[in-house]
Amino acid sequence: MNIDGKLTAQTLRDKLAIEVAEFKSRYKIQPSLTVIIVGDDPASHIYVKNKVKQTQEIGMISNEIKLPIETTENHLLSLLEQLNNDDSVHGILVQLPLPKHIDESAIISAINPDKDVDGFHAMNSGRLFNGEPGALVPCTPQGCVLLAKQHLGKDLSGLHAVVIGRSNIVGKPVAMLLLQENCTVTITHSKTKNLPELCKQADILVAAVGIAKLVKADWVKEGATVIDVGINRITTNEGATKLVGDVDYVEAFEKCGAITPVPGGVGPMTIACLLKNTLAAAKNSLQ
Ligand code: GUN
Repeated sequence: MNIDGKLTAQTLRDKLAIEVAEFKSRYKIQPSLTVIIVGDDPASHIYVKNKVKQTQEIGMISNEIKLPIETTENHLLSLLEQLNNDDSVHGILVQLPLPKHIDESAIISAINPDKDVDGFHAMNSGRLFNGEPGALVPCTPQGCVLLAKQHLGKDLSGLHAVVIGRSNIVGKPVAMLLLQENCTVTITHSKTKNLPELCKQADILVAAVGIAKLVKADWVKEGATVIDVGINRITTNEGATKLVGDVDYVEAFEKCGAITPVPGGVGPMTIACLLKNTLAAAKNSLQ
């Protein structure tokens, strides 16, 4: 079956909207997210526009700071210091990628970890690694686990999860989250030997490598839950461009128990989890 990420994300946003309203009436504080975007990459601007719109739709404040491509690293660092010290700002997100002259890791490290709604700061990776409850966890990995649970139910204990990809944004954190859910986790990557055989052992297969339709039917165990994180732009035989995942959806659909589509799977969940993190950051700010 198909796992509907759009619907699952809508359900989560509806729940968050109620929680935001309760938070506002109880504490007289409106949760707020500040998004910084540097330069004019069209895809990044579309992502940011969606983030801003959905933040406002559930009743939170969204501030968008658009900076020119020439912005210096120092300017960005001093802006972050200002936002870090502003009690009315609960969440800070710097849209990536940044222009080449800005050191991304220096910028991520400069965000107050308690406002780091992307969960990219080393303090939050460390908290996740240690299984500490206060971690702000990266949004896409959270979305992957919620979608797996959408099909499998709350308890993932003992299931074998195979993750393809080891990025700091998806592969590593999703592996940590699945481990926290008591899965047996295998992390695979481009140098892994016997990749198809390993994938075929997965009860939960998370594909996050960025290679269009890499995962074929014979990589998938009968009845497995397949979470496809890939967003690859390909040109069809007719010359049109199309988004496809890291999994060959049509092939895998026949074998698996459930699969997330691209688009309409993990993507919508990423923003919904960003909103969840923003509300969590606002709640944490009270302590
Ligand atoms: N660019 C693409 N995805 C993301 C994301 O999740 N967070 C940030 N900050 N930038 C991105």
